[in-house]
Order: sequence, then C-alpha cells, then structure tokens
Amino acid sequence: MQYEKNSRLTVKRDGKAIYDIVLADSFAGLPKELETLNPAGRKACVVTDSNVAALYLCEVTDKLSGCFRIVTSYVFPAGEENKNLDTVRGVYEHLIVNRFDRKDLLIALGGGVVGDLCGFAAATYLRGVDFIQIPTTLLSQVDSGIGGKTGVDFDAYKNMVGAFHMPKLVYTNLAVLKTLSEEQFSAGMGEVIKHGLIRDRDYYDWLTENRDAVRARDLDALHLAVQESDRIKREVVEIDPTEQNERATLNFGHTLGHAIEKLKNFSLLHGHCVALGALAALKICEARGLVTKKDVTDCEAAFASYGIPTRVSGISADEVIRATKNDKKMEAGVIRFILLDPVGHAYIDRTVSEEEMRRALAYITVPEQ
Ligand SMILES: NC(=O)c1ccc[n+]([C@@H]2O[C@H](COP(=O)([O-])OP(=O)(O)OC[C@H]3O[C@@H](n4cnc5c(N)ncnc54)[C@H](O)[C@@H]3O)[C@@H](O)[C@H]2O)c1
Repeated sequence: MQYEKNSRLTVKRDGKAIYDIVLADSFAGLPKELETLNPAGRKACVVTDSNVAALYLCEVTDKLSGCFRIVTSYVFPAGEENKNLDTVRGVYEHLIVNRFDRKDLLIALGGGVVGDLCGFAAATYLRGVDFIQIPTTLLSQVDSGIGGKTGVDFDAYKNMVGAFHMPKLVYTNLAVLKTLSEEQFSAGMGEVIKHGLIRDRDYYDWLTENRDAVRARDLDALHLAVQESDRIKREVVEIDPTEQNERATLNFGHTLGHAIEKLKNFSLLHGHCVALGALAALKICEARGLVTKKDVTDCEAAFASYGIPTRVSGISADEVIRATKNDKKMEAGVIRFILLDPVGHAYIDRTVSEEEMRRALAYITVPEQ
C-alpha cells in the first residue's frame, strides 16, 4: 500500500467542518494556521508541562507573539500525577489574574496530560473558551489530541471529571517526536497499531512493512503513520462524537489494558497496557474462530518489533478480571469488550465470559522473574 502525504485533515460533524488537523514538520506554519481565529484581538495562554516547556515553549511563544495581542504561559510539573483539579485551579488563577475573558483562548502544548487538562480548563473557564491543541507525544498526535475528550483524574480515579470540548485547531509538528524517549514513542505505537487492527488491515500491514523507517523516526514515515492514524480516529469520532457506540471500538485493548495499568500501579505506560490488552483480546478472538493463530503471533511480532512488551509479570489473571469488573467501562454489570472479526474490523461484544478472559490472560501473564 502506498499513501500520499496530506498536510490537512478536516474533522466534520453533520457534514459541517469543525476543525482542521494540520500536519507539519516545524512550527513555522503556526501563525498562518491561526489567521482564521482572528488572533490580533485576543489573548492566548500556552499551557504546558515542565519537560515540554524546556524544549519548545520559547519557540512556540515566539511564533504566537506576532499573532495574538498578549501571550502568557502556565507551566506545571510533568506527570500524570499532576493531571488533577489542583493544577486546573492553578490555570484558572493564572487566567483570572491575567484578565482572560470569553474571547481569549488556551493553547495546549504537550502530550495527553497537558491536552486533557488544558482542554478541561478551556471547557469550564467562563463556561467555555476556545482552545487549540499542539500535541507533542506520538500518543497525543494520534489519539488524545483529536476528538475533544478532555478531563482530569480525581483521587485514584483516572479521567473521572471531564467534558467534551472540541479544539479549534490541532497543529501537529512531527519533528518534535525526535526528542521523545524510546519508551514513550513505543507506547504511542501501541495506539497506532491498534488503529490498523480495528479498522484498516492494509494500514496495519504498512506499519509492519515500514517499521524500520517509522522506528528511525524518518519524518516522511512519521507523517504517513500519524496521518493514517488520524484519519481512522477522525472517521470514528465523526460517526460517534460522544461515544454512544462506534467510538467505543477505539477502546480495543482497553478493557483488560486498564485493569493491567491499575494493577501495575501505572508503572507501565498506557499504550503498552493497551497493547497487552489487545493481545489478550486477540486470543479471545482466536478461541472464537474470528482470527487465526497466525494473526495472533503476527500481531505479537509487530508489537515486539516496535519495542512494545507482549507479556506482563507480577499479576494474575484473576486479579485482572476482578479489576476489570470494577472499571467504569462496565455497563449494568456487563463487560463491554471490543473484539475483531477479522483483523481490520472491530465490533462491540457483551458476551465475553470470565473463562474466556482467564484463558486469554494466561497467554500474556508470566510469573514474576
Ligand atoms: N483525551 C483522550 O481522548 C485521551 C486518549 C488517550 C489518552 N489520554 C490521556 O493522555 C495521557 C497520556 O498522554 P501521553 O502519553 O502523551 O503522556 P504525557 O503527556 O505525560 O507525556 C509523556 C512524557 O513525555 C514528555 N514529552 C511530551 N512531549 C515531548 C517531546 N516532544 N519530547 C520529549 N518529551 C516530551 C512529557 O513531559 C511527559 O513526561 C493520559 O493522561 C491519558 O489519560 C487521553
């Protein structure tokens, strides 16, 4: 499969364009993209974390200050543990002190933590102000930055408080992926491969065939991978913006993945847990005759070739099942599972039994070394 490079995807609702996802290899095009937002009369606040601020805040602020009336920034310490209401409170205070009003706007510069938190602040400050996403991790470029799900964690509960709030623009500079750690990059690849698995077999094959270029973070290869993943996420989000049905297929691998993530006390990255959950879900599909044994081993090899773990130690199948039953993805006591039939097509299933889960989990869990 050969893909053409596109530098723009438009997200629509009911046939009407609501925002663009721009793909670029620098921040140079940012001012031009902002023109339609009438920046000269507005203030902008860049919300970012301490790691991203050290790398890109100066460059981005420099590009923005020629466009907006005033540009301020709010930097919080990096890490999921800061995706909470205390940090949101800090953002509100900053906006109030700097007299931000309804026509002003927020800019999320960072990974999913920054995007979710800044988006939530934008959704709620003065009952909602505009925001734009500048996603800087692979995961945020292909997943969290698109679709308008915003929110923060509350005590031990992940993403417990949130809102749907669509960005006005998603500006994706692929070159920033060069500074991402190997671990974070491979976690993002877990979500990328998932996109192929749930909706596009050809794309999944392309990712296997182009592994060397993608892993080397060749900008052309990254462009095509992010573009195709964004296309898939956009399609699903357009069909079902508020996750009533179809959008749930994006949760392939999440049912068991979330439980693993929790049981491992978030020591494993989200994208890695999703991949482990995806592998277990594939084993269920194999047992039901929906995919072949070779599909499972091929997928395992694809994950491994991108540095994604395919086994997890120190947790038992029973613990994972118990944690899954406590998850918020339960619907009236029934576990909502996403399965494949075949690879490249996902569907929602509510009939997966504990025994099926147990057998599948036996495949991915190993004793503590
Ligand atoms: N809203 C959604 O639809 C959605 C979907 C999936 C995940 N999420 C959320 O996304 C979050 C995870 O996002 P993430 O994986 O991007 O994690 P993250 O935002 O914590 O970023 C990971 C790390 O990479 C650093 N970083 C970011 N960009 C960098 C760059 N270009 N170079 C070097 N370092 C960089 C960050 O400072 C951080 O330390 C979770 O909170 C999850 O709940 C949301």
